[in-house]
Amino acid sequence: MNQRTVRVKVPASTANLGPGFDAVGMAFQLYTTIEMRLASETKLVLHGEELAQVPTDKTNLLYEVAALLFQRAGLTPPELYMEVSTDVPMTRGLGSSAAAIVGALVAANTLADEPFTRDELFAMASNLEGHPDNVGASLFGGVVVATMPESEEKPVPYVRFDSPKGLQTLVIIPDFWLPTEEARQVLPEMYPRKDLVYNVGRSSLLVAALAQGRLDLLAEAMKDRLHQPYRSKLIPGLSEILAEATQHGAIGAALSGAGPTILCFYQSDEQHATLLDFVGRVMNQHGISYRALVLPVDETGVTIEII
Ligand code: HSE
Repeated sequence: MNQRTVRVKVPASTANLGPGFDAVGMAFQLYTTIEMRLASETKLVLHGEELAQVPTDKTNLLYEVAALLFQRAGLTPPELYMEVSTDVPMTRGLGSSAAAIVGALVAANTLADEPFTRDELFAMASNLEGHPDNVGASLFGGVVVATMPESEEKPVPYVRFDSPKGLQTLVIIPDFWLPTEEARQVLPEMYPRKDLVYNVGRSSLLVAALAQGRLDLLAEAMKDRLHQPYRSKLIPGLSEILAEATQHGAIGAALSGAGPTILCFYQSDEQHATLLDFVGRVMNQHGISYRALVLPVDETGVTIEII
């Protein structure tokens, strides 16, 4: 085992991008940093307000995930010292739990002298998270298109590519939490065929448009009938923003992952100003306070430093 301290920096991410439910992810330059080293007693030091409610003992998700990696590698899970800081708001649809899982796996894998490849870590992270969209983006950066294999032992099939040039992202982060589980419970078990065909077409177009830089197609390609219409009732302002953002500066808009964050793509400063104004009006009408952030795409994915 490596006796040094491992520092991993993991990007936040968005998932779905509209119709690509559980399949399409994109990484952002907003980071969670985890330092991990072997210790005589397990201790987690968590920096920042976002992590104030998080446990600091072995029940912490990071420790549990790291322990699992050691077990899978045939090693007894060691006591660990960890320091964690994050700029990713939690439970908002920006992949905070995926970043935590990826960070813990990658750091523990490095301490364990790399028993697993990055693709094997991707499979582990996807199985832990339940879907590969956020974890794929956090691991590899850029745009990742992936789907769960039919059995857990198989690798996760995926394609990663750089984000289109000139694409800018505004995220609107409402000041309330929405657990993914809650946002999945409102989805139907069955869908009419016309809605499935609607999404298959748009999701396919979305991936092709992102891969070829066809920003002109995003407005149509980001429309969705599988999850956004059902989640709208949990997120005041979402339906108006999705319906009208492209008339107010956006070149495409979607719920970020399971929400409540809303994401708008744009290209120019003028579009950015128009969008901010529009979003402000809608959110104020609903009495929802929020933060708006411009997030550049992270094209690198998780990085590892041994210190
Ligand atoms: N694809 C997932 C969902 C993302 O929309 O429920 C949540 O992490």
